[in-house]
Amino acid sequence: MAKAQKPTRTHTEREARPHKRPRRPLLSDNAWSEAIRDRTARVGIIGMGYVGLPLMRTFCGAGFNCLGFDIDETKVEKLNAGRSYIKHIPSTLIKRVVEEGRFRASADPKSLRDCDAIVICVPTPLTKMREPDMSYVENTAHLIADHLQRGQLIVLESTTYPGTTRELVKPILESGGLRAGSDFFLAFSPEREDPGRTDHTTETIPKVVGGNDPRSLKFAAALYGAAVRKVVPVSSCEIAEAAKILENVYRCVNIALINELKMLFDRMGIDVWEVVKAASTKPFGFQPFYPGPGLGGHCIPIDPFYLTWKARQYGMSTRFIELAGEINASMPEYVVNRLTTALNERRKSIKGSKILVLGLAYKKDVDDIRESPSIELIETLKKRGASVDYNDPFVPRTPRQREHDLRMTSKKLTAARVRSYDCVLIATDHTSYDYAWIVRHAHVVIDTRNAAAAVRTGRGKIVKA
Ligand SMILES: NC(=O)c1ccc[n+]([C@@H]2O[C@H](COP(=O)([O-])OP(=O)(O)OC[C@H]3O[C@@H](n4cnc5c(N)ncnc54)[C@H](O)[C@@H]3O)[C@@H](O)[C@H]2O)c1
Repeated sequence: MAKAQKPTRTHTEREARPHKRPRRPLLSDNAWSEAIRDRTARVGIIGMGYVGLPLMRTFCGAGFNCLGFDIDETKVEKLNAGRSYIKHIPSTLIKRVVEEGRFRASADPKSLRDCDAIVICVPTPLTKMREPDMSYVENTAHLIADHLQRGQLIVLESTTYPGTTRELVKPILESGGLRAGSDFFLAFSPEREDPGRTDHTTETIPKVVGGNDPRSLKFAAALYGAAVRKVVPVSSCEIAEAAKILENVYRCVNIALINELKMLFDRMGIDVWEVVKAASTKPFGFQPFYPGPGLGGHCIPIDPFYLTWKARQYGMSTRFIELAGEINASMPEYVVNRLTTALNERRKSIKGSKILVLGLAYKKDVDDIRESPSIELIETLKKRGASVDYNDPFVPRTPRQREHDLRMTSKKLTAARVRSYDCVLIATDHTSYDYAWIVRHAHVVIDTRNAAAAVRTGRGKIVKA
């Protein structure tokens, strides 16, 4: 089962073969194998965001017909018109699969009835009280339950605490009378997407799969095995859920460690980036993590707190995670303090100063600003009386977010404009920036990413933070 079922034809050949098949319940092992082998199994993906859209690309690429279900009708319209809204997913790809009849988007839940497999990729954020907000997963489970068909395979991919699939999703799906493991099938398979990466794609990243029962595992592993290079079956949904949380906790804790060491080494006059570079030469037992202005994105700042919350039900407090969260959350404040000191040394106060923040996205070369530390940096600088602008080639204007509405637009970078700011703060190290040019024209540069490491002229203006 662990072996991927390699498509025998190329993706292009498969995509040129649109097909439709009236849905019959895939209840037997043979029926599932055939539907996967012949690519007649229809895959529905719920939530066409940063995870759902690349997943559609992977399944369509492997020759399956896909339905993209989203409650956001604007996204549905754009997709059906062949337009992408995510930077690294080209519109040409969407247009092609729509034109070939391989993919269609819908906001009508009835469309889910025609799918043999339904994969859930909806958000799992935190509430204002920093507890798991399971409303998206719950609403989706209810929506599926209302249309659930015999023989369907339901897979949850959203990152969540161990136990979600069995304790939360399964009872909702079974509320109509069908039973998981016999009438329909249920599995958890975490998404490991890293937007902006070019060395790995959804297809090449191994897919961990845990089933509610042996047949659910078998069907889910077979489905993914036809679309990705390697499937890693595990013994339960809980193992798969916990594996994903472990991956994210591991990053969160290690980033916090290096952020704390950055603050210490800075006091000691030691460059943390050079230290990490030196330590990375050890061929075993060390993995480099890099400091930054704080955590961002949909995963690392959020997911570990799903586990923290669950741990309380077991009478445990996850001290490592809490401490890591505390350190990482304090980084924007640390950066602003470094910036304040740098201005002070140049006889300037932060109040009334003009600051340009470079990079709004939470990491380089992406357009995703969710949980981005740049937002907090801007808000803190403004609170301290600075006048703040930003530039980000991928974020022309700040979108309205659940908790922020900055209403700012990206300022064009010209030499005169860069010179007009008291300070330039590098928050995101986009590859397209010419750091030597920035340092040449800026009065002082606060560099939170070691982005200007290679700049030779004007190093006296650079303050690492
Ligand atoms: N973004 C990442 O890099 C990443 C990586 C790994 C795992 N994940 C996890 O994957 C999940 C999805 O994340 P994302 O980044 O794709 O989120 P996203 O916000 O980009 O996309 C989610 C989509 O779900 C839609 N949606 C919300 N409720 C819905 C409902 N009831 N029915 C149908 N559609 C609904 C939204 O309109 C949106 O289009 C989360 O659990 C996240 O933690 C994300």
